[in-house]
Amino acid sequence: MPASEFVTHSSEETIAIGREIAAKLRPPVLVLLKGDLGSGKTTLTKGIISGLGAAREEDVTSPTFNLVHEFRKPIPKGSELGPPPCKVYHVDLYRIENFHDLESLGLEDALSEKAIVIIEWPERFTFRTDWPTIEIRLVHAGGDARRIAIADLSLKNTFQ
Ligand SMILES: Nc1ncnc2c1ncn2[C@@H]1O[C@H](COP(=O)(O)OP(=O)(O)OP(=O)(O)O)[C@@H](O)[C@H]1O
Ligand SMILES: [Mg+2]
Repeated sequence: MPASEFVTHSSEETIAIGREIAAKLRPPVLVLLKGDLGSGKTTLTKGIISGLGAAREEDVTSPTFNLVHEFRKPIPKGSELGPPPCKVYHVDLYRIENFHDLESLGLEDALSEKAIVIIEWPERFTFRTDWPTIEIRLVHAGGDARRIAIADLSLKNTFQ
């Protein structure tokens, strides 16, 4: 299983790691972000989504209340043969109470098209999917330090 581990010392460094991850993501892919409150999941997502070109950093905010934010990765400027545009979903399951709530999110629609789906608090539910899945664990490591471990859970080696 390909895996990488980083330690960052500021939110800017975590955003930079997110941008590096973005460069390696190809849809369809599920990105599971695990870690305690304030460990940096949303901060990392700012880097991933801005790295994909789907939104500016400041427009990526915690989807705490509406639970899902939808973005779109555009066609890269000046290239006709680049990767096609795709939807990018940022989901936060922290407040999810039950399966009924989960169904109402429309996640199944998201998973029925080739998208990039980033999920905070994925441990709230078991996801059964044949999509390539990347699990990222963020751990407080004292002060502003965060340990970020990336594992590719699929056999398809999406992240190498
Ligand atoms: N190295 C770092 N990496 C990421 N965030 C950091 C770092 N150092 C300090 N911070 C701060 O920690 C906080 C992380 O908050 P963030 O919302 O990203 O966490 P979260 O894991 O999404 O929390 P929640 O579980 O509430 O959604 C921010 O205030 C950020 O500025
Ligand atoms: Mg968050």
